[in-house]
Amino acid sequence: MATVLAIETSCDETAVAIVKNRHILSSIVSSQIAIHQKYGGVVPEVASRQHVEMVNLAIAQALEASGITWSEIDAIAGTCTPGLVGALLVGLTAAKTLAIVHQKPFIGVHHLEGHIYASYLSDPHLEPPFLCLLVSGGHTSLIYVKDCGKYEVLGQTRDDAAGEAFDKVARLLNLGYPGGPVIDRLAAEGNPRAFALPEGQISLPEGGVHPYDSSFSGLKTAVLRLTQKLQATGEPIPIADLAASFQATVVRALTKRAIACAKNYGLNTIAVGGGVAANRGLRAELQAAAEPHQIKVLFPPMKFCTDNAAMIGCAAAEHFDRGHTSDFAIAAQSRLPL
Ligand code: KG4
Ligand code: ZN
Repeated sequence: MATVLAIETSCDETAVAIVKNRHILSSIVSSQIAIHQKYGGVVPEVASRQHVEMVNLAIAQALEASGITWSEIDAIAGTCTPGLVGALLVGLTAAKTLAIVHQKPFIGVHHLEGHIYASYLSDPHLEPPFLCLLVSGGHTSLIYVKDCGKYEVLGQTRDDAAGEAFDKVARLLNLGYPGGPVIDRLAAEGNPRAFALPEGQISLPEGGVHPYDSSFSGLKTAVLRLTQKLQATGEPIPIADLAASFQATVVRALTKRAIACAKNYGLNTIAVGGGVAANRGLRAELQAAAEPHQIKVLFPPMKFCTDNAAMIGCAAAEHFDRGHTSDFAIAAQSRLPL
């Protein structure tokens, strides 16, 4: 049972956690959302500077809250890719430095692996193979998790990610950043059938549509056009109905693809990860759609859907238990496939 201290700074959360295999001893998430809100999105340079300000404090807080000492920690992990390079660099350098100072092995973790293993925090008995529906601000992927480190991407978005679509639609409706939580809240009060919106499909050259790939940019444009049309009437825009209809369209697209993929690959568990896994509409609809097929659906605990370091620690512990550690030479990279 590996005990890992993990650092995550790929975007706008400075996060440090200590996990003992699939259990959290402490988790600190210092969010920069309030700082970026006034710009309507994450400003990379501001994010890096803020990580520098916060990372040492977060490390100290995580250690104190865990109740353990450095001698009980087996390895130090840091997110190395994908993300904002300047932001990644801060956490990765902190992780490498701690590993050198305390003479521990270092493990560089792919951020998406973190989202995959976040479901271990709700079910510590989960084992591959399973299907991961990874829906975040940067990704919308269906990943066949064959084993730790062995992944096959079966489907992905061809344009906007699901979370990105939530953020862009919220921005055009003047709902602020990040858009997902606001739309989720508004959708609960609206009518999901108020407006018919296009789901977005990927046509195949040989005819038919791709069963697992998705597209959300057309949906975003349709919401924009509809909003402009409604504005032209001079009537107040039915924001809750618009949010509910948009959310229902995204949820339908994701649910349909995830169920088809699990069935076709004979996988009886879908583990959902990423910020959009917090969406209440998705949680309810995917669960309901999976039940008749005897497919089990797992979501991370609410606060571990969005970026955190506990999920990075979980992924690192899986690697450590298999004898995988990283070279100190690995660099922060903005993009790298799983
Ligand atoms: O995983 P995450 O924290 O960061 C990335 O790795 O991208 O995901 C952030 C994304 C944002 O786009 C945010 O709007 C979305 O997750 N999100 C949600 C909800 N909470 C966060 N989307 C829909 N419903 C939510 N409740
Ligand atoms: Zn993420």
